[in-house]
Amino acid sequence: MQTAKKILLPYTESGTAMAAIRRQPQRGVLVLILLILVHISACAESLQVLHWWRSTGEQKAVAVLSNRMAQENIQWRDGLVPSGSGIGANIVLKSRVLAGNAPEVAQLNGVLISEWADLGLLLEMDSVAVAGKWEKLLLPSVWSLVQSHGHLVAAPLGVHRTNTLFYNKKIFSKYDLSAPNTWEEFEQIAKKLQQAGIVPLAQSTEPWQLATLFDTILLSESSPAFYQEAFVRKEPAAFYDQRFSRALKRLRTLKKYMVLSAQERTWMEMARQLAEGNAAMMIMGDWVKGELNAMGLVTDVGFGCTAVPETGNYHLYNVDTLVMLAKDNSLRATQEKFAQMLISPALQAEYNQVKGSISVLRNPDLSKMDSCSRASWKLFSRGSSVQVPSLVHRMATDEISKDAIIAEIHRFFMDDQMTIGETQRRLGAIARYLSKTKAGNDAQDINR
Ligand code: BGC
Repeated sequence: MQTAKKILLPYTESGTAMAAIRRQPQRGVLVLILLILVHISACAESLQVLHWWRSTGEQKAVAVLSNRMAQENIQWRDGLVPSGSGIGANIVLKSRVLAGNAPEVAQLNGVLISEWADLGLLLEMDSVAVAGKWEKLLLPSVWSLVQSHGHLVAAPLGVHRTNTLFYNKKIFSKYDLSAPNTWEEFEQIAKKLQQAGIVPLAQSTEPWQLATLFDTILLSESSPAFYQEAFVRKEPAAFYDQRFSRALKRLRTLKKYMVLSAQERTWMEMARQLAEGNAAMMIMGDWVKGELNAMGLVTDVGFGCTAVPETGNYHLYNVDTLVMLAKDNSLRATQEKFAQMLISPALQAEYNQVKGSISVLRNPDLSKMDSCSRASWKLFSRGSSVQVPSLVHRMATDEISKDAIIAEIHRFFMDDQMTIGETQRRLGAIARYLSKTKAGNDAQDINR
């Protein structure tokens, strides 16, 4: 990763200091020291950014951001806490804030933004929003997400689509297959692949990865309204509903088409299985696209992407956002400059192309996107009727509720003795309990 540290010092470019040293060694050294001091103070602005992007594709996206910062003479101090979907990073962030050692910037997504803003922990950047015309520039749901009680408290990076199915093009063309639109078609393909000795679906047993799959299955078996009944409003009745039991059944059916290892695999390892032809399909957020591209696979050549069966009309999404932590005011100007930089059209195009997500702007340059991103942006920009906030990726509800639901889905998947009815009862009980607590009432509604 390139950082500001790698910028050449001006005196080495011009050569004037070197000439001065040769002419009058003592004065020259003084000039040199002076120039170094000037340079250090010019680069003195630095921001530590806490995030969880550690895969090759994610690191390339980080490099886009840090290089852009370096051009503005701001140094990116890397605060990587490796953890798929950010579970560990959020814990570290919380403990650093409690210890009075908060970073200046942090990746904080979805519902957490308003929770942290309510605690007074985030910098309000209203003057940035006004000067930069954010309301006009950003897609409406993104603009609503980055505000809390009418104040701008986060800067958006990109929108991911989590109901994405990736498939290995070589395998699909070898067996004359086309991307499935329905679960029936998916099963026909999966059976054919199994007969040929190919693993149909790459899948890890890591809880958040399993729940990312279940998220999209639930949407496919119901509708955006039902999904929100269950995961945003956590209405107990939704968990006892037939649509919920159908989704659990589908999850168990899909297990037949996976080869599960005893160890939990990272999503990057799963993406590699797909890339190397050790599995034919993978269901995951489109950060996988960034990873496949980083491995050298070209979209529509090495792999294809489509919506998860029976979810083609919907965009199950999560938005990556950076918040500026409110500390003393000494770095406010730098934090605000950074926030404004993030929504510039050029940065949005470059960053999202590498990350696999789509621009948060209303008028991005569609010609710079590949077919997957273009389809994702066109759908998402249709607005709230097609947008469904992902539970697992923090767009639907608070952490406690999310983690409790994910744990039950994981238990159901791992233990074949656990019945659908028992899982529904357990989830219904959790929902009943949560709706009586504060956590249960903090649900985010994308139309808020
Ligand atoms: C984040 C992505 C990230 C992915 C995998 C998601 O929750 O939104 O930016 O690439 O987790 O760690």
